[in-house]
Amino acid sequence: MPKPGFDTGLPARRAALEMLRSTLMDKRLLSHQPAPGGLDPEDAARARRLALTLLRHLGRLDNVLRPHLQKRPTLAVQSLLRLGAAELLVDGSEPHGVIASLVEIAKRGARTTRAAGLVNAVLRKVDADDRGRWAALPPQPLPVWLRKPLHKAYGVDAVAAIEAAHERGAALDLTPKAGGVIAGGVPLPTGSVRFSQAQVTAIPGYAEGDWWVQDTAAALPARLLGDLVGLRVLDLCAAPGGKTLQLAAAGADVTALDLSETRLERVTENLARTGLVARLVVADALTYAADPFDAILLDAPCSATGTIRRHPDLPFVKTAGEVESLTRLQMQMLDHARTLLKPGGRLVFCTCSLLPNEGENQVKAALKRHDDLSVLPIDPTQLGGNPHWASPEGGLRLRPDFWPELGGMDGFYMALLKRG
Ligand SMILES: C[S@@+](CC[C@H](N)C(=O)[O-])C[C@H]1O[C@@H](n2cnc3c(N)ncnc32)[C@H](O)[C@@H]1O
Repeated sequence: MPKPGFDTGLPARRAALEMLRSTLMDKRLLSHQPAPGGLDPEDAARARRLALTLLRHLGRLDNVLRPHLQKRPTLAVQSLLRLGAAELLVDGSEPHGVIASLVEIAKRGARTTRAAGLVNAVLRKVDADDRGRWAALPPQPLPVWLRKPLHKAYGVDAVAAIEAAHERGAALDLTPKAGGVIAGGVPLPTGSVRFSQAQVTAIPGYAEGDWWVQDTAAALPARLLGDLVGLRVLDLCAAPGGKTLQLAAAGADVTALDLSETRLERVTENLARTGLVARLVVADALTYAADPFDAILLDAPCSATGTIRRHPDLPFVKTAGEVESLTRLQMQMLDHARTLLKPGGRLVFCTCSLLPNEGENQVKAALKRHDDLSVLPIDPTQLGGNPHWASPEGGLRLRPDFWPELGGMDGFYMALLKRG
């Protein structure tokens, strides 16, 4: 039993273990799980951090633990071991506290009480022996349904680099409303400002609405539309609104549409904080009718596989079948978006996916279906990017392993199309 007054971290660790269970067994994304009840904000944040660390390194943690186990333990016991190994090897937490706390959780759980001795013994071995082995292990592999098409598209070495980038995680990127620098951040060549670790509300200019949070890759699609002053622009699938803010800041008359009223509330909040203006519409992008627009930005729902750096739970929840239905939805959205575009109007199609079926192939297929659509090729260097970001059909392919020296970026695809 830990000494009285000793910080056992029990509530946060228990909540992290429940998040892991729900991700792996219920196939629920962390963002769709209810907030753990009864935790103070500090413990809730700690639980989330622990769950993210576990999921980001799960494959490697299992590799470290395997030699210490004669047979595969139950999921509940395995999870305790994984959490202990993560705290010891990834976080570098003080070993005595970590092991005592996890042994205590084991003792108190009906399904784990008999394994308390095992948890104690294995974690002591991990602490004593495994730091060198941990450092030498390859990064956590992506699941087969995702790895296979990525191998085909980018090759084995690129996929290994993507997996390594996922383990490194993501920095915090901000888009400044009026361009320029933000004190304390590193300006990136594409115009975003990067912070390695920071509390968002403590960054200068938060209350004034001088910037908003947006990965540097996600900030590029809106810029493809060029000069928007006075133009009517439709932001299809707009919430939570990073691109809406960019379009409004560029002087466009913006209609921001999303199917989800709840998610559109985030757009309202973001507009209020930044003092920008857009017309918000709750509607289905597949059936929405309006006078044709000068320009459209379609940031279609997708597998979000470009954001695994931030959401390491994703590979454990999404499936190939889900991606297939999303691909069909994107195709239908592209076709309907075309009907809402003036002749001569420009349309950006983008997704935060690594999969060509949700990017390059989607655009190639749209060109085959519609004679009046053409691609306006993008020159990445005009956006502060590298020439190799350009993809053969004229779009832009961004990957998490790009810009390793600057801290990477989310995976994204974008193309600029013209009607007529
Ligand atoms: C990738 S997110 C958009 C991110 C947003 N453009 C931004 O920059 O913050 C996709 C959005 O599509 C919305 N969505 C999904 N199906 C939709 C539909 N049929 N019609 C309109 N919006 C839809 C989702 O609610 C979600 O907000």
